[in-house]
Amino acid sequence: MQQPVRIAPSILSADFARLGEEVRAIDAAGADWIHVDVMDGHFVPNISFGPAVMKSVRGCTAKPFDVHLMIAPVDAYLDAFAEAGADCISVHIEAGPHIHRSLQHIKSLGLRAGVVLCPGTPAKALDYLLDLADLVLVMSVNPGFGGQGFIEGQLKKIAAVRKMIDASGRAIDLEVDGGVDAATAARCIAAGADALVAGTAVFRGGAPAYAANIAALRGE
Ligand code: DX5
Ligand code: ZN
Repeated sequence: MQQPVRIAPSILSADFARLGEEVRAIDAAGADWIHVDVMDGHFVPNISFGPAVMKSVRGCTAKPFDVHLMIAPVDAYLDAFAEAGADCISVHIEAGPHIHRSLQHIKSLGLRAGVVLCPGTPAKALDYLLDLADLVLVMSVNPGFGGQGFIEGQLKKIAAVRKMIDASGRAIDLEVDGGVDAATAARCIAAGADALVAGTAVFRGGAPAYAANIAALRGE
């Protein structure tokens, strides 16, 4: 069952020189979750930040930290991100052979567990994971950078994942990440998404614009 839409601004697009202030600003502007895009320069061709930076802004908001690990190997870092204050940790199915075990470990830490699909990975890859996952993240760009164009073909995958989630009978969030703006947000929601990651579309125009930018993603 599709849930009310949650907006998760990605701090990858924030001003890193004022990261704490930026987290407070998107919290005040109506963000539901804080999306933390972690990149290692190996799984994706970019490096962002690690658990220490995330921990340094944990106290700036009570909103959930929705952590997206674009790293491989990933299992060695799950405990560090849990300790740094993650509420949900999402792992790429493509990051290694043991996604099921990674999800089990995240749950054993008392956190929500998410599974991420790159644009080239079919929804079918979720077949044996929906009894475990709390969230499915469909990438609508190839991971590594903010500000990329939305990949239209992923709308079909979002609809397919929506069907699989509804058939599972579990309340699993369906999140979309990459190139989400007011126009593509509406199409993602129509296809069955109920959580939207946005970096560029939220942080454009500076803090005075954040509330209106987030509202626009909700279609308000
Ligand atoms: C992976 C990152 C980006 C980011 C969103 O590359 O996960 O998708 O969160 O960036 P925008 O909203 O600027 O496309
Ligand atoms: Zn992300």
